[in-house]
Amino acid sequence: MTAKGADRPFYIYLAYSGRTLIVGANQSALQVLIDAGVDIEPGCMLGGCGMCVADFVEGDLIHKDLCLTENDRKALFCPCVSRAGTRIVLPL
Ligand code: FES
Repeated sequence: MTAKGADRPFYIYLAYSGRTLIVGANQSALQVLIDAGVDIEPGCMLGGCGMCVADFVEGDLIHKDLCLTENDRKALFCPCVSRAGTRIVLPL
């Protein structure tokens, strides 16, 4: 059982490679992607600089950044802070 307000694990599905990654409750999606060999530059790690911004295809995203507009969030997310309820699909 997850404490109220705590982050939950979720899946990242890489559509082109067919790989599935698991983001643990205490991990960022960015760290999991970097560990998996995805070439993303980390920056502030606070959702503010936009250096890590990545495309997504679909998913129940929970945006936690401070740098994207609502329009941006239709196709982009900041993996350093943003999470998903269950799953996100990336064009990788
Ligand atoms: S590293 Fe700065 S927004 Fe993600």
